[in-house]
Amino acid sequence: MAGIVVFGAGGRAGRAVTDEARRRGHRVTAVVRDPGRYPEPGADGVTVARGDVTDPGAVAEVVGGHAAAVHAVSPFSGPEQGFDSLDPEFFVKAADALLGGLAGAGVGRLVAVGLFAHLVGADGRAVMDDPAAFPAEIRPFALAHAAGLRRLREATERGGEAGAGVDWVMLTPPARLEVGAPRTGRYRLGGERAPDADAWLSYADLAVAVLDEIETPTLHRTRVSVFNSAGPGDAGS
Ligand SMILES: NC(=O)c1ccc[n+]([C@@H]2O[C@H](COP(=O)([O-])OP(=O)(O)OC[C@H]3O[C@@H](n4cnc5c(N)ncnc54)[C@H](OP(=O)(O)O)[C@@H]3O)[C@@H](O)[C@H]2O)c1
Repeated sequence: MAGIVVFGAGGRAGRAVTDEARRRGHRVTAVVRDPGRYPEPGADGVTVARGDVTDPGAVAEVVGGHAAAVHAVSPFSGPEQGFDSLDPEFFVKAADALLGGLAGAGVGRLVAVGLFAHLVGADGRAVMDDPAAFPAEIRPFALAHAAGLRRLREATERGGEAGAGVDWVMLTPPARLEVGAPRTGRYRLGGERAPDADAWLSYADLAVAVLDEIETPTLHRTRVSVFNSAGPGDAGS
């Protein structure tokens, strides 16, 4: 298989996806904003490229020649960061740049990492619309993220080169997405609903799901939840 281009490759999800891709023997182009800060510039089979996912020209420049792309970018890494500099259109711009760039380069598959906040809760509302379930101060980020999903769906409805040419899927982890938790190799796929409160997932297993959907696509132009309902302590190997 031709290589995989990973946007946000220096982040938590992006590193896990890059590791899983390398474990399976794929060549990876790791797209980061500042290659000097990328932790493993010389990793075997990994080429580091500079790129901003919201810049259509930069995306178009790096995606050619790959079989699939991964969108693991986040402009927000934690509440301490605040939202003063958050662009509400960030994920919309990223969706446009990715769909346009991938379609133009003939890259047919995009796997994006979602956010649990806009999955649907038990009462039928988005999780982010329930102040008891989701902190109001993080809502601007959740709204921006949800707008990116809407953009992917609109592109599909509109058709055209970008909408028809790129088979995207958004895999959405549960609220408990654990850094450093083990790779079990197992996960479950849900639908639009948020999984039960005890659901969790390691970044490593999120990456397993991402790579499975690249190697053998089963989900097309849709958003689903991905989770592991066993506790981290029950993880196998
Ligand atoms: N429970 C959940 O639902 C949950 C939990 C966590 C994350 N997520 C989602 O998972 C995805 C990845 O999150 P993460 O935890 O891996 O975040 P992360 O560790 O903060 O990494 C995000 C990466 O995005 C990069 N980035 C930021 N702006 C960029 C831009 N304009 N162009 C290119 N790269 C850019 C950052 O690179 P720099 O080094 O250049 O800053 C960083 O490496 C996001 O969609 C996030 O919302 C979901």
